[in-house]
Amino acid sequence: MNEWNINTSLPIDYTIKISNDLFSVNNNDLLQTGEKKENMRRLIVIDKNVYELYSKKILNYFNHYDVKCSIVLLEGGEQNKNLDALMYLLSEIEKFGLLRRGEPIIAIGGGVVLDIVGQAASMFRRGVPYIRIPTTLLGIVDVSVAAKTGINFLERRNRIGSYYPPIAVYLDKIFIKTQNSLEISSGMGEILKMAIVKDNKLFELLETYGEELLETKFQHEISDEVIERSIIGMIEELEINLWEKNLKRLVDFGHSFSPIIEMRSINTENPLTHGQAVTLDVLYSCLISKSRGMLSSEEVKRIFATTKRLKLPLYHPLFGNSILLKESLSDTMKHRNGKQNLPIPVRIGKSIFINDFKYEELIQICEQLKEKNEK
Ligand SMILES: NC(=O)c1ccc[n+]([C@@H]2O[C@H](COP(=O)([O-])OP(=O)(O)OC[C@H]3O[C@@H](n4cnc5c(N)ncnc54)[C@H](O)[C@@H]3O)[C@@H](O)[C@H]2O)c1
Repeated sequence: MNEWNINTSLPIDYTIKISNDLFSVNNNDLLQTGEKKENMRRLIVIDKNVYELYSKKILNYFNHYDVKCSIVLLEGGEQNKNLDALMYLLSEIEKFGLLRRGEPIIAIGGGVVLDIVGQAASMFRRGVPYIRIPTTLLGIVDVSVAAKTGINFLERRNRIGSYYPPIAVYLDKIFIKTQNSLEISSGMGEILKMAIVKDNKLFELLETYGEELLETKFQHEISDEVIERSIIGMIEELEINLWEKNLKRLVDFGHSFSPIIEMRSINTENPLTHGQAVTLDVLYSCLISKSRGMLSSEEVKRIFATTKRLKLPLYHPLFGNSILLKESLSDTMKHRNGKQNLPIPVRIGKSIFINDFKYEELIQICEQLKEKNEK
């Protein structure tokens, strides 16, 4: 006998909980996770901007519950999601002397900080627990559900990463109040994506209330329904395919042509946020659908009008560059193991995958997007 087979599985179990006013001293949700004992300690990794805005409340909270906390600040923004930040954080975890199991790292911030913390947690002692507290709309509706972590590397988004879910996620939409309008609109790009690819009702909500949601910074009565529908949609897609064994993923809608373009735009006069880049990819995919006789002109009109109402871009010069789009799609295809697997809506809220998209079509769609912008 000189062959052995090891066959085991990794149970995954994490809760995503809406917990309003999470840092009110009357709310002890956050301290329900991790070991409860005297002299409790926590390592708290916070986005610098969030710390400036909320430090008093957050520190007061831990003080109230007698939890000794060490704070590590990280900067948000895509350009800061890098190896330096990851290494810095790993050294801070070492300095803190983190227990292997009972002291979950608490990550508070936008998608960038949450992804760096998740990555560090997956690597430190080959894995320590962490809790996610997203403070941006995009973090609340998207990063909250995901098992993925990562950092950018060699100008490629999330080129280094892992599947390493948190042990708990707490959502408090109050944080959105202090986000600037550009970032909120960017978060709405991911919601719009979800709506077009699989949830017609969500699209109608955005069509009707999009502007008000933006103006009230999601403190509108309809915001809970919009957030919940987005999260449920994500859970439906991710839970059955958490390790991405199946590379046909509806949630990849908006992420086929955009990744390289988003990174390239960062140091230009006109940088794209993640949600903006995703939106342009969504519009691009909708035009592919229309040119193939699937989405109607009326539906495309509604999609463009809603995008505009959400203050999301309808055009960016880099999305008019067919060579760059081709490069981006080729890179995406490596991620999809050589296949295009392009999610394309057949109507609003229902999609299919295509694998026969041609370069000539790409040039045509670039022209159409440009023309729409010039009109
Ligand atoms: N892990 C996943 O599956 C997953 C899913 C989606 C997106 N992401 C990642 O998320 C990132 C984008 O996240 P993001 O849009 O939250 O960007 P971000 O984390 O860069 O935050 C955007 C800006 O908002 C600031 N900010 C954060 N919270 C704030 C608040 N409450 N008030 C005021 N300012 C605040 C930050 O300091 C930053 O300047 C991308 O790197 C993307 O890859 C990861």
